[in-house]
Amino acid sequence: MRRLVFISLLLAVYLYACKHNSLIPGGTPPPGITPPAVGASIICFETNVLPVFVSNCAKSGCHDAVTKAKGLRYDSYGEIMVTIKPNEPANSEAWKLIMETREDKRMPPPPALPLSKAQKDSIYKWIVQGALNTSNCSNNCDTTLFTYSGAVLPTLQSSCIGCHSGTAPSGNIDLSTYANIRTVALSGQLLGVISHSPGFPQMPKGGNKLPECKITQIRKWIDAGAANN
Ligand code: HEC
Repeated sequence: MRRLVFISLLLAVYLYACKHNSLIPGGTPPPGITPPAVGASIICFETNVLPVFVSNCAKSGCHDAVTKAKGLRYDSYGEIMVTIKPNEPANSEAWKLIMETREDKRMPPPPALPLSKAQKDSIYKWIVQGALNTSNCSNNCDTTLFTYSGAVLPTLQSSCIGCHSGTAPSGNIDLSTYANIRTVALSGQLLGVISHSPGFPQMPKGGNKLPECKITQIRKWIDAGAANN
């Protein structure tokens, strides 16, 4: 009888734990990581995950197209997926290296700092949610907002100005000042390159086309006179 009670108790604890574990998508996360909430909206690969890999791993001399350290690149969905197992962070090589506590094994390696908690959370949630190639996400993008400072400049800063600034800007196009941006906007070049119109080189060069919402914001801003607003 006592044995039966003991077994029932064990079973109850087990079922409780199982049930509660299954409430957390992907099971219990590693310490310090916030899992996706039940029914949470899907993490956007293009907006929240790709820029983290590109800016921390695909640097020149590391995992960019030229150096390809260890044969790995981290500049596109297909290349990133080589070391990611959908739904299984614990079996995803990239995630394990991001979470590595031994400094000499961690990615990105010192002197680079480990990824931030927010960056780790995004990558963890994205893997648990199936590591989908979600793009054109409308996160933080509202086509009724199309001012220069609130919509146009932030997009150009994250996707264009890295190449189009400095002493030798790509294509001899410097987009680091309002005056220069206004010039390419009013000439039709800006919309031509970002909407991949025939006769224009496709921008951002080597990257994904901007989300439609961001292109719409820029088009509306140009149509309204490309003001410094
Ligand atoms: C990785 C570097 C890189 C990025 C990122 C990039 N460009 Fe370019 N861009 C170039 C190069 C190189 C050229 C010269 C033309 C070519 O090689 O295709 C160019 C040319 C241009 C031109 C001149 C087009 C013409 O008609 O000759 C414009 C305008 C332009 N880029 C705008 C942009 C905008 C807007 C973005 C962001 C959405 C962007 N670029 C992102 C490298 C880049």
